[in-house]
Amino acid sequence: MNASLNQEIIEIYRKRAQNYDITANLYYLLGYREWAYRQTAVDALHLQPGDTVIEIACGTGLNFSLYQEAIGPQGKIIGLDLTDAMLTQARQRIQGNGWENVELVHTDARNYAFPTGVNAIISTYALSLIPESDQILEKGVNALTSGGRLALLELQVPEKWPDWLVNTGIWLIKPFAVTDEWLARRPWESIQKTMREQLVDVSMTEMYQGLTYVIAGSKS
Ligand SMILES: C[S@@+](CC[C@H](N)C(=O)[O-])C[C@H]1O[C@@H](n2cnc3c(N)ncnc32)[C@H](O)[C@@H]1O
Repeated sequence: MNASLNQEIIEIYRKRAQNYDITANLYYLLGYREWAYRQTAVDALHLQPGDTVIEIACGTGLNFSLYQEAIGPQGKIIGLDLTDAMLTQARQRIQGNGWENVELVHTDARNYAFPTGVNAIISTYALSLIPESDQILEKGVNALTSGGRLALLELQVPEKWPDWLVNTGIWLIKPFAVTDEWLARRPWESIQKTMREQLVDVSMTEMYQGLTYVIAGSKS
């Protein structure tokens, strides 16, 4: 586990927490349809009323309303995140909406002991920041019920993009802790491989010229 990487991430997201929701929306100016992509990932969970969904690295809880629409008040959301300030924003969202079915856990996802019998697990724009993403995925799959769904909304560097475009893209997403280390590690390769190894009926949808993808599958 890399303590200094964690500290770097915490510091970045402490600074960004208060304006995170607004900043994330700015990418619309570049034609990046963030909400449509989030909805695609949530749809891939096939949520039903009463389901329990865990979001790994939930941040400010931007996705929570999408889960609520599908699971209803009898369902349950568990959101975990490393950064206290992001969870403070999530807590305000929960209180503002009067949701009583959301549990927030302040933890490094690597240390989280997933409960069993979970219907769905999701992570959006977060898992690839964690070098041990594959181990986290494996633990998540173990926690799912048979037929349970796991979906990820993530970024990758499209093969056909020229270097100048990759560099511009990295510059644009750098404020969210996407670094040269991330670029060199190419986390999308192992994440997609692990998803295909661990799950069945895996499907992948690419968006925004392949920069963004949703990958999802079921536990056998
Ligand atoms: C780009 S934000 C995404 C937040 C949210 N999932 C969304 O879609 O808006 C990345 C989040 O990952 C969290 N994070 C990074 N490393 C983590 C770790 N090891 N465990 C838990 N959360 C982590 C950060 O604190 C931050 O809230």
